[in-house]
Amino acid sequence: MANIVILTGAGISAESGLKTFRDQDGLWENHPIEAVATPEGYQANPQLVREFYNARWKQLKDADVAPNAAHQALARLEAEHQGRVTLVTQNVDDLHERAGSRRVIHMHGQLTKARCPVSQQVFPKTEPFSESTVCTCCIPHYPLRPHIVWFGEMPLQMERIENELAQCDLFISIGTSGSVYPAAGFVELANQLGAQTIELNLEPSQVASQFQQTRYGRASETVVELVEQILKSPQ
Ligand code: APR
Repeated sequence: MANIVILTGAGISAESGLKTFRDQDGLWENHPIEAVATPEGYQANPQLVREFYNARWKQLKDADVAPNAAHQALARLEAEHQGRVTLVTQNVDDLHERAGSRRVIHMHGQLTKARCPVSQQVFPKTEPFSESTVCTCCIPHYPLRPHIVWFGEMPLQMERIENELAQCDLFISIGTSGSVYPAAGFVELANQLGAQTIELNLEPSQVASQFQQTRYGRASETVVELVEQILKSPQ
């Protein structure tokens, strides 16, 4: 039974209406990345950062933001494939979970969670961030921060991810530009460990040449096609 590790990036959620990071208008709206996606930016202007992530969290609740066929195909693969399927996502949206995927590792955090800046305890995000949304784990209580990995911070669950990569027979990268490490380095590790490696993207990523196979097109088509092929092939 082949063990499969899948890495997803913003491109898999593009057809669900969520902007990718390196589109023309970019996800950062008119904010420089430093202002809204670094610990220094949060330190300098916590209210601006809270509002930025409150807006992205509220957007997830828009009726027209829903899992697309690519998310659904990955959930089907996890449900029907005999071997283990582990989904490592750089995305902070909850579309994989809403499509039914269960083994999901959010290495860059989640919009649907909040974190105590002192104890690092993680809470479900049930209300917009404000100065008064505070932790319940410390005295005095501290304002909760977004459970998002900012530039300069360590990605989450790296040991578990490396362990899954070490045991995988097939590594599939979907909808990522391969411009941010450590995720962009996973293909090299998978190749070294003897796994088959496939890139599905709209256009060649910055690490495209390291994949044994590449397929270009929209994720809602390429992912559905590949999942059907995997489920049809002998397990
Ligand atoms: N189908 C498939 N791929 C797509 C689609 C689509 N419909 N639309 C866009 N793409 C591809 C783009 O060609 C691009 O290569 O998705 C990729 C998105 O790349 P980025 O915008 O760089 O997003 P990502 O790779 O996820 O960024 C990685 O960078 O900014 C940080 O923490 C942030 O997690 C993010 C990380």
